[in-house]
Amino acid sequence: MGAMDFRGRHVLITGASSGLGLEMARELARAHGAHLVLVARRRERLEELQGELERSYGVQVTRIVADMTRAEDVDRVIDEATRGQELYAAILNAGVTFFGHALEIPDSELRALVETNLMSTTRLANAFARYLMERQNGGGIMLVSSVAGISPLPYQAAYAATKAFLNSYGQALAEELRGRGVTISTFAPGGIDTEMAQKSGITSSSSSLKAFLMPADRCARLAIEGFRARKTFFVPGPFYRLTALISRVAPPGLVAWQAGNIYRGSLPKRG
Ligand SMILES: NC(=O)c1ccc[n+]([C@@H]2O[C@H](COP(=O)([O-])OP(=O)(O)OC[C@H]3O[C@@H](n4cnc5c(N)ncnc54)[C@H](OP(=O)(O)O)[C@@H]3O)[C@@H](O)[C@H]2O)c1
Repeated sequence: MGAMDFRGRHVLITGASSGLGLEMARELARAHGAHLVLVARRRERLEELQGELERSYGVQVTRIVADMTRAEDVDRVIDEATRGQELYAAILNAGVTFFGHALEIPDSELRALVETNLMSTTRLANAFARYLMERQNGGGIMLVSSVAGISPLPYQAAYAATKAFLNSYGQALAEELRGRGVTISTFAPGGIDTEMAQKSGITSSSSSLKAFLMPADRCARLAIEGFRARKTFFVPGPFYRLTALISRVAPPGLVAWQAGNIYRGSLPKRG
């Protein structure tokens, strides 16, 4: 299959209300003329983005307000996104983190983290993969994972574990569906300058990683470029590609120790 062509086609993006998802929506509308299906919980943010994209680029935009922690909302997204329009691509980007000691995560937050990052992403990937295989329109799915999923990450232990699942699942699914008319890409960025980075301790004044945060619009451009080229697994930018390589070849205990040292200084102070 040649490169993907998003022009005049419908692309769904979860987590489109801020950060990377919002910038990927802008990039797809501006540079590729794609029609968009935007998904997130914050209705006003989606309305604002819809207005901006329709006015500036003349593309069609629809919104689905949905909470990825709720199985019935995930079902509704599958139903609404595939009714009345032919979907060409789905970017499964919604995600949350918990920054702090692993033992201190409240059960409700752990459940929300697993449901959002892992369960909803997997269910949407499977449903859209079946849909795209039936259509044979040359489209594909991109899972937004993280370099944090390559090795253990102290103080974001549960988050990194969900991303390890996605890295593994995405690449396995890509292999299972090879030659079946649908592309499965897994995108694994490092630190990006978004609301999530603020929550993950990276932007705290003492964090040495702050200088390595990638602007969200640059990360979005690289994400769409790799997806378009049908890359199976990719990491944006030389710094995080090197980080990914080291994480793969170094002993996991050593990587965890080093990452723990970096993040420990940024932990929220206990009241
Ligand atoms: N920032 C980083 O350093 C970094 C690094 C590597 C990978 N990533 C990955 O990149 C993706 C985007 O993150 P970001 O950095 O752009 O963070 P962000 O600005 O916090 O955006 C997260 C998006 O996910 C949506 N979301 C969260 N919980 C949801 C739920 N229960 N239901 C529906 N939507 C939900 C949010 O929308 P609502 O709140 O409106 O629902 C928002 O649009 C995530 O998968 C993240 O793991 C981020």
